[in-house]
Amino acid sequence: MPSAYPDRRIADLSTPPIGFGVMRLAMEGRPDEAEALRTVHAALGAGVRLLDTAVNYGSDAAELGYSEALVARALASWNGDADDVLVVCKGGNLRTDELTFVQDASPENLRWSCETSLRALGVDSIGLYLLHAVDPKVPLTESMGALADLRDEGKIQRVGISNAGRRQLAEAQTVVDVVAVENQLSPWSLGALPVLQQCEAQGIAFLSWSPLGGSARAADLGRELPEFAAVARERGVSPQQVALAWALDLSPVVLPIPAARRPETILDSLDAARLQLTDDERRRLRGAVS
Ligand SMILES: NC(=O)c1ccc[n+]([C@@H]2O[C@H](COP(=O)([O-])OP(=O)(O)OC[C@H]3O[C@@H](n4cnc5c(N)ncnc54)[C@H](OP(=O)(O)O)[C@@H]3O)[C@@H](O)[C@H]2O)c1
Repeated sequence: MPSAYPDRRIADLSTPPIGFGVMRLAMEGRPDEAEALRTVHAALGAGVRLLDTAVNYGSDAAELGYSEALVARALASWNGDADDVLVVCKGGNLRTDELTFVQDASPENLRWSCETSLRALGVDSIGLYLLHAVDPKVPLTESMGALADLRDEGKIQRVGISNAGRRQLAEAQTVVDVVAVENQLSPWSLGALPVLQQCEAQGIAFLSWSPLGGSARAADLGRELPEFAAVARERGVSPQQVALAWALDLSPVVLPIPAARRPETILDSLDAARLQLTDDERRRLRGAVS
């Protein structure tokens, strides 16, 4: 991925600055499998080396592990080296049916979820495993302790947390080395900025989810954010690229994980890595979202 931004560090790993979230290839409204594989291959072909999955990315409870199995098929049929690709998995959140997500971050369910993802991926160890969200029914230290155990057993190699606030991150760190946080961050969603500061201060990778505002907003991003559209026009790029460049420019630990259901959109998004913002553009974009 030719890039104006340095690769991102995730503990001992280094990865190009934009990843690919495969959620929309697995859930309701997903494309057929051939198009899904084309989309993953397009992302990998353009240099992506981080794929974000979760055990619950599927259309219902019968499809737990679906997104990991899809990633396994995509990697097996790709002409590159699958060992270079970091597959991020998340556990602690299940589905009961098409519409209902259920949190269960008990140690038992985290172990079951991790083993389901390992089987679906067809690997012995997962490079980065995240607690999907803090479960109010389970002490966070117990959930993170379960991930520490899985890491000590070699089933996962690195541990992270998703949807965490500053205090939760600090509490998780009392139990295990946390190398990545995955939180929502977009021009419309700035609530995670304090956690981002904490990550930057400690050299923790910050994976930003729904970086284009999610499927409901992504296509109309330019209409809703006129300053982003103006910079896009001036630079001859899409407003979505400007939004991703804005995120990349916020901090050297930010690693956006946009989704896509087709090659065209992920390829356009990945071009954001080439878009170095000028001081004036940075000021305009930051002013537009604050
Ligand atoms: N940890 C968590 O709790 C959590 C929660 C939500 C999501 N996530 C992760 O974050 C990833 C992204 O989240 P998301 O899908 O909600 O949000 P998103 O990436 O902000 O939006 C995805 C939508 O953006 C469209 N898009 C992508 N690039 C585009 C471009 N260059 N121009 C125009 N449209 C573009 C895609 O369109 P097409 O569909 O037409 O290709 C897709 O529908 C997920 O895949 C998942 O891995 C994590």
